[in-house]
Amino acid sequence: MIIAPSLLAADFRRLASETERADRSGADWLHLDIMDGHFVPNISFGPAVAKTLRPLTKLFFDVHLMCSKPEILLEMFAEAGAGQMNIHVELGDQVTPLLWKIKSLGKKAGLAINPPTAICHVQPYLEQIDELLIMTVNPGFGGQPFIHETLPKVQQAFVWRRQKGLQYHIGVDGGVDFGTAAECARAGADAFISGTTLFHQRNLKAAVSKMRKIVEESQPAEAAPPTEVEQSCVNP
Ligand code: DX5
Ligand code: ZN
Repeated sequence: MIIAPSLLAADFRRLASETERADRSGADWLHLDIMDGHFVPNISFGPAVAKTLRPLTKLFFDVHLMCSKPEILLEMFAEAGAGQMNIHVELGDQVTPLLWKIKSLGKKAGLAINPPTAICHVQPYLEQIDELLIMTVNPGFGGQPFIHETLPKVQQAFVWRRQKGLQYHIGVDGGVDFGTAAECARAGADAFISGTTLFHQRNLKAAVSKMRKIVEESQPAEAAPPTEVEQSCVNP
C-alpha cells in the first residue's frame, strides 16, 4: 500500500520543513501537483521547486502533470528528481508519445483520468503504465469533496489488472480522507494520494499510520466488473 501526502496542501510559507515533515512521516511517496493554468484553472509550482526540495528527502517524487503541454516539462522534472510522472489520458493522441518519452527518461509512467472521462479510454495503455491515477475530484484544487461516482472505475481497474496479469498501481487522488480511503481500498485502490487530510494534521506521522492501517484492513472483495463501465466503453 502506498500512502502519498500531496504537497499542494502543505504550508507554502515553509515548503522545506513541510517536505522534511513528510520525510519523517513514514509515507511512501510525496505527490507533487503541477498545474499550468490551462489544463486546469489554477497554477501551483514548477520544476525549480521540486529540484529545491529534492535533497531534503528520500521520498519518491510522484509528479502529477495537470498540463496541456507536459512535453515541455518532462526533461526538467526528470532532472529535478521525479520518480514517476503522470500525464492525463484527456490529451488523446499525445498519450503514447508522452508515455514513451517518460520511459526514455528512465522514469516510471503514470496515466491520470478525470472524473467525467470514461474508464475505457485508459484501456489501450494499461500494459505501458506503472500507475493508473483515478481522479476522485475534478483536478485544480485541494480540499474538494470526494466524488463517489468514480468508485466503479477503481473496481474496473482492479478487475483489468487481475485479468491481464499486470502490476500497475491503482491510485486515487482527491478528497481522500480516512473514510473515503477505506472505500477506495475496498474497490481495489492501492495508492492513496491525500493532501488536506494528511498535511492539515499537526501529527502527520500519526495520520499516515492511521490511513495505512485503515486501508490495510479494507481489502477488496472478489467483485465482478461493474456493468455500467462496460457499457460506457461501447462508444468511447
Ligand atoms: C487535485 C490534485 C490532488 C490534490 C488532493 O487537483 O491533483 O492531488 O492535491 O488534495 P485533497 O486531498 O485536499 O483533495
Ligand atoms: Zn494530484
